[in-house]
Amino acid sequence: MFEKTRVNIFAPTTVLFGLLLLSIVGAGPVFAHGEEKHAEKSTMNQHMQAMMAVKEKIPEEYRIMERTPIMPDETSLERGKELFAQNCALCHGDKGDGKGPAATALQTPPANFLDAEHSAMYNPGEKFWIIGNGTGETGMPGFSQLSSEDRWHLVNHILFLQQQSEEGQPHGKGHKSH
Ligand code: HEC
Repeated sequence: MFEKTRVNIFAPTTVLFGLLLLSIVGAGPVFAHGEEKHAEKSTMNQHMQAMMAVKEKIPEEYRIMERTPIMPDETSLERGKELFAQNCALCHGDKGDGKGPAATALQTPPANFLDAEHSAMYNPGEKFWIIGNGTGETGMPGFSQLSSEDRWHLVNHILFLQQQSEEGQPHGKGHKSH
């Protein structure tokens, strides 16, 4: 009897305390400006760690592939574009900027291929491997059903998007002299 009353008294307090804690933790990064950078940094480190973990899974033969074995000619780019719209734009966005309609639902934002620095983390062979196997933890599914040719067309398309955006933005990173 006594125990029960105790529980009843404490339960609302516990809930309140929980809410208070949540609002402090949840709102912290938004309000505390000094903390914001810190939070961003730790997310960044986690992201880097996740990317490195993906990299470690990739077999050496792909790691060292600096070029796609399929010429990025018109046919390849057309096919890549079509496949990208069908399978990838949902997350990576039509332009490859990582802003597809499903992007916000993912804990790790889908890669923005127009961010050359980020994209350079994975060379063409590694991108090819990731398309077939996914990124695991960071939420990209593997597309093993696509033929290896189609996966190379996709890599060509991604690199093309990147190249196009660099040309379109003469003030972009590393292009100050243009
Ligand atoms: C469900 C959402 C989702 C879909 C669909 C998706 N991706 Fe991803 N993709 C991700 C996420 C999340 C990452 C990891 C981002 C990171 O680590 O920065 C990623 C990473 C990548 C990477 C490595 C990062 C880089 O810059 O090289 C490549 C390449 C890639 N995706 C290509 C594709 C292609 C091609 C398709 C379509 C066949 C596709 N993705 C479909 C979510 C998705």
